[in-house]
Order: sequence, then structure tokens, then C-alpha cells
Amino acid sequence: MRIAVCPGSFDPVTYGHLDIVSRGAKIFDKVIVAVLYNSKKSPLFSVEERLDLLRQVTAEMPNVEVDSFSGLLIDYMRTKQAKVLIKGLRAVSDFEYEMQMAAINRKLDEEIETFFMMTNNQYSYLSSSIVKEVARYNGRISDLVPPLVERALYDKLGRQA
Ligand code: PNS
Repeated sequence: MRIAVCPGSFDPVTYGHLDIVSRGAKIFDKVIVAVLYNSKKSPLFSVEERLDLLRQVTAEMPNVEVDSFSGLLIDYMRTKQAKVLIKGLRAVSDFEYEMQMAAINRKLDEEIETFFMMTNNQYSYLSSSIVKEVARYNGRISDLVPPLVERALYDKLGRQA
């Protein structure tokens, strides 16, 4: 079985993430969406809240699993017997960082292959940070995140959707 891991902060999940996850799920037998626990960033949503949102928005994808991890990604992947790492590339600006990550992950475990997918053009500007920023100032985010994520964001930020 070809198992791929799609790691990230997912704070919160956006249509850009879902584009990559759903396309990845057509290629691999199983895709594990893995939320990083010990992020250096200070998150808006707790890991449990992020897992809950991810589980709900991927409920219709039978071969997608949602999980969390801490420590090194390659160690987590070993425990899941996953050899492929899925990453979305939005623009050239993502390239340098992702190239470095792919290189270090390969150095740490040469069995791991990073599989890059170009994000749909429609979402090339999209990031969780941008969504939070727009929501914070009451901008419209319905094209950026699923409705239940939109509600969760407004609840969190104490605004009316
Ligand atoms: O959504 P993000 O915040 O860009 O995701 C970054 C993530 C989780 C993919 C990356 O930080 C990661 O893999 N962290 C785990 C630690 C690790 O294995 N780092 C790479 C080797 S130093």
C-alpha cells in the first residue's frame, strides 16, 4: 500500500490544503494529513481543534486519515510506514524553503521521497495566515475556507459570520 503523509500546521485548513489533499488521495492508496504538535508558531486553533476541523472537511474522502505528530517528520513517517511526503507549491517563493526541507529529509532518511504538487492557480495566494488576517478584519473568507472553518474562525475571533 502506498501511504503518503501531507504534513503542516493547518491553522486552520484552507481550500488550498484541501486541493492538495484531495488530489493526493487520487494518486496514493492512503493520505495521512499530519498536524505538527510542537510548532514554533503561536497557533490560533489548538491541535485538537485543527484535527477536528480537518476530520470534518475530509469526511467524504475515504482514504484520507487525520493525525498529529511531534518531533521529526521522518520519524513519524517511519511509524506509519509512509515513504512519500506530499507538499504543495504555491509560488516560486515556496520553492527555496521546500527544497531545503526536502533535502534535509532525504539526508535524514534516503527512503523518503518528497512529492511536490503545484497548487491550483486559483489558490496560489492562499495561506492560513492570510485567511486569519482577512477574518480578523471582517473580510470575506467564504471563497478561502469551507463553511465550518469560516464559522470556527469567527467563533474564535468573537465575530458574527
Ligand atoms: O504548514 P507548515 O507550518 O508550513 O508546515 C511545516 C511542517 C510541519 C511541514 C514542518 O515544519 C515539519 O515537517 N516539521 C517537523 C520537524 C521536521 O521534521 N523538520 C524537518 C527536518 S529539520
